[in-house]
Amino acid sequence: MTVDKKGAGNAVEIRVKDPVTIVIFGASGDLTHRKLIPALYTAYTQNLLPENFTIFGFARRDYDDEIFRGIMADAIKEFSRLPAAEETVMRFVAHIRYHKGDISNPNTYAELTEKFKNGEVYPANRLYYLSIIPSLFETAVSSLKQSGLIAPPGSSHWTRVVIEKPFGKDLASAKALNATLLRHLDESQIYRIDHYLGKETVQNILSFRFANAIFEPVFNRSYVDHIQITASETVGMESGRGGYYDEYGAIRDMVTNHLLELLCLVTMEPPGDLSAEAIRNEKVKVLNAAKLDIHKDISDAVVRGQYGRGVAPDGNPIKGYLEEDRIDPNSNTETFTAMRLKIDNWRWAGVPIFLRTGKRMAKKATEISVQFKVPPLQLFQQVECEEDVCDITRIKPNTLIFRIQPDEGIFLKISTKRPGMRFVVEDVKMDFSYSGTWKKSLPEAYERLLLDTLHGDSTLFTRSDEVEAEWRVVQPMFDHFDELKLFPYKPNEWGLVEADRLFHKMESSWRNQ
Ligand code: BG6
Repeated sequence: MTVDKKGAGNAVEIRVKDPVTIVIFGASGDLTHRKLIPALYTAYTQNLLPENFTIFGFARRDYDDEIFRGIMADAIKEFSRLPAAEETVMRFVAHIRYHKGDISNPNTYAELTEKFKNGEVYPANRLYYLSIIPSLFETAVSSLKQSGLIAPPGSSHWTRVVIEKPFGKDLASAKALNATLLRHLDESQIYRIDHYLGKETVQNILSFRFANAIFEPVFNRSYVDHIQITASETVGMESGRGGYYDEYGAIRDMVTNHLLELLCLVTMEPPGDLSAEAIRNEKVKVLNAAKLDIHKDISDAVVRGQYGRGVAPDGNPIKGYLEEDRIDPNSNTETFTAMRLKIDNWRWAGVPIFLRTGKRMAKKATEISVQFKVPPLQLFQQVECEEDVCDITRIKPNTLIFRIQPDEGIFLKISTKRPGMRFVVEDVKMDFSYSGTWKKSLPEAYERLLLDTLHGDSTLFTRSDEVEAEWRVVQPMFDHFDELKLFPYKPNEWGLVEADRLFHKMESSWRNQ
């Protein structure tokens, strides 16, 4: 198999050539139904999977091939992005098998080995997808290794292992997990998945920055006032997630992966080329320069909140976090966090970076906004209107917004003369939207990422040192956790007022839109 060295997307939309057996551990779970199988189905309908492939669902439930195929066919019909014609679905599920097994039982691996003996039936290139709780990662990987089911790099057939987050709970556990995985696998075989990196809009951050010459010269401390990254969600603890979430909380669930990955893409230096290593090297460099912006104590830089009871827009009551299913009624877990970081490097010194994420907030929105400085001379006055009422205000700074989801696009807010006899300016938006430009649905993150694993392109996956660098950024919070108060907030709002104080001494505030 030849890996496209240029990485970053060149491999995709080319049919995978290598025959492969995909084994999904934890196949009875939500991820397999909602994401993995529908994504593989879409790739299949677009003729992107190899001619010869088998997908094994591996779980403890008492299914057989037929039952599992039926469940997967239903999942495709419910969750596939593209229309699921009965005949195509049936052709696809004919590639699916079920293996009933227990990850902790050595006999399971002996059975798998027996099954896989004949490489003619089940291709010897293997993709193991570990959609299981992290405490089982080591058991699964070491058992596969001991059973001879992992081919070392350089063999005639490849083995790749996809790992789902969380990659640890803090810096020490992330290091321990990396060490464990690396005892059994080579780094090049490990694909740590962060589904944000598979989003079309997230990949576009790099193209936008480095395929256009006009923005890069102003992406630095001379022109940028600050950067905000928000991932707000309206959901609470649906689909039985409480057990996992209560153990991890917003910081571990969203910051030490998705938000810090967004931060990397928007602040990293241009890579020398588009290879996985060049891009990941730059990400690690910027993460190593990123720190919580602590002046006196940790609460200068971090705010934590937990949603209380509320009322939904339709008038129905919303449970408080502590009343949700599988949540400890005395839980101290945050469902909202906001933080202020700094990046101690030549490009970004002195530019505050704000991150914010939460459940049960006013709106589902993920965006990065880069706010530029106001012009040095305030020649104009700005008009700001809300419906018919207009006000004269100070001129508004330019803001560049990467809208990750929904309403995917990139917007630039600029001041322009308002038509009329007076010389006043108004804030307007220059925008590029995906829906207006391409008029077709965007690929799901998992479609892209699964195809990348089959192509052997690790550009959009997190390297071990990158994971550790992410934990290093937030580790001071865990070291001083007792000093961080947990504030209550109301559902359907923008989180905590306390998060505003992160902007102290600045004229700006959170962009709540
Ligand atoms: C997951 C988190 O990684 O990302 C969830 O575990 C969160 O808690 C989800 O809801 C958000 O993803 P998206 O793609 O909807 O922004």
